[in-house]
Amino acid sequence: MPQRIAVIAGDGIGTEVMPEGLRVLDATARKFALELDFQTFEFGSCDYYLSHGKMLPDDWFEQLKGFDALFYGAVGWPDTVPDHISLWGSLLQFRRRFDQYINLRPCKLMPGIKSPLAGRAPGDIDFYVVRENTEGEYSSVGGKMFEGTEREVIIQETIMTRTGVDRVLKYAFELAQSRPRKKLTSATKSNGISITMPYWDERVETMAANYPEVNVDKFHIDILTANFVLHPDWFDVVVGSNLFGDILSDLGPACTGTIGIAPSANINPQGHFPSLFEPVHGSAPDIAGKGIANPIGQIWSGAMMLEHLGHQAAADAIVSAIEAVLEEGNPAVLTPDIGGQGNTQTLGRAITEQVFHC
Ligand code: NAD
Ligand code: IPM
Ligand code: MN
Repeated sequence: MPQRIAVIAGDGIGTEVMPEGLRVLDATARKFALELDFQTFEFGSCDYYLSHGKMLPDDWFEQLKGFDALFYGAVGWPDTVPDHISLWGSLLQFRRRFDQYINLRPCKLMPGIKSPLAGRAPGDIDFYVVRENTEGEYSSVGGKMFEGTEREVIIQETIMTRTGVDRVLKYAFELAQSRPRKKLTSATKSNGISITMPYWDERVETMAANYPEVNVDKFHIDILTANFVLHPDWFDVVVGSNLFGDILSDLGPACTGTIGIAPSANINPQGHFPSLFEPVHGSAPDIAGKGIANPIGQIWSGAMMLEHLGHQAAADAIVSAIEAVLEEGNPAVLTPDIGGQGNTQTLGRAITEQVFHC
């Protein structure tokens, strides 16, 4: 039986990097004799919204729930559709309804890429951000009072449930335990946010008791961002709430040279629902249409998807192909964000060819 993958390219550079992601997956499937069946959907994009008045059809959950995985590009076109409408109407629905409570985001300084941090070489930055992905600061609980008057009040709650906090911490501890350094850093802000964050700290301490081999530390989010820049080598697995994880997972990849290479896996670990794989970056309206977006975030997300689907060797081949092309560093192939004069397609094609040698 082929594994079924739903493909949603989204907006802007999402539509430019997706074909490269698929090109690499197609080559990898041929090399490893994988049976992957891709089905493309137009919904989940701002164009769909402009013609249908909504981001998703009413039966989207029924349409997608039987797939083995979702492969997503990027969504958002704020000039025509406000972000809170496009994102809450698509990506954030998928994460919530498919209970993709882990957002796993690797940050790795790759060979051939120059970190903006002085003196950092591959090996110095190699960690995971594990982001809580269904609750926390991204809650829909809140509202407005006295709208339009001087007395306007706007409230949006942060929600932490014991189940929600414990399950992301457990995942992060397990990941830390499986890695050679066995180190876990918790992102907190319990000095200023006086109810939810002390609770987060308490749950970290309780969970840590189950993992005596894992070396645990914690930083308040403000100094943690500084330490990402000053001491990225300190980190191995960094776990944070939804918002803190979001911030750290743009900052981390920026320290590795470009957010254009960063992948992510929105995972429902029990497999009750499909997991979703997408680059960390957005639709990048500032470069959309120029054909110069870096496709590696999309391609590497494809590798994370294959790993999730049980094809470890195929996933490893894609990551090795990315590394080989970056190490070779041919400026005619690389995209401008990593110092090249090439484009989305030259880089996508080079990685595709390389897959056959990896
Ligand atoms: P962005 O990630 O789209 O772009 C930030 C900066 O990084 C831009 O200068 C852009 O050119 C650059 N960049 C991003 N990806 C790149 C790539 N692959 N190659 C080279 N450069 C790249 O963030 P933004 O500007 O804050 O958001 C633009 C839109 O995307 C908004 O609508 C936002 O809500 C949405 N967004 C969507 C997702 C998602 O779908 N997961 C993620 C982030 C932002
Ligand atoms: C991400 C994005 C999304 C988030 C936005 C677009 C809603 O920034 O995937 O990191 O905040 O989760
Ligand atoms: Mn983000």
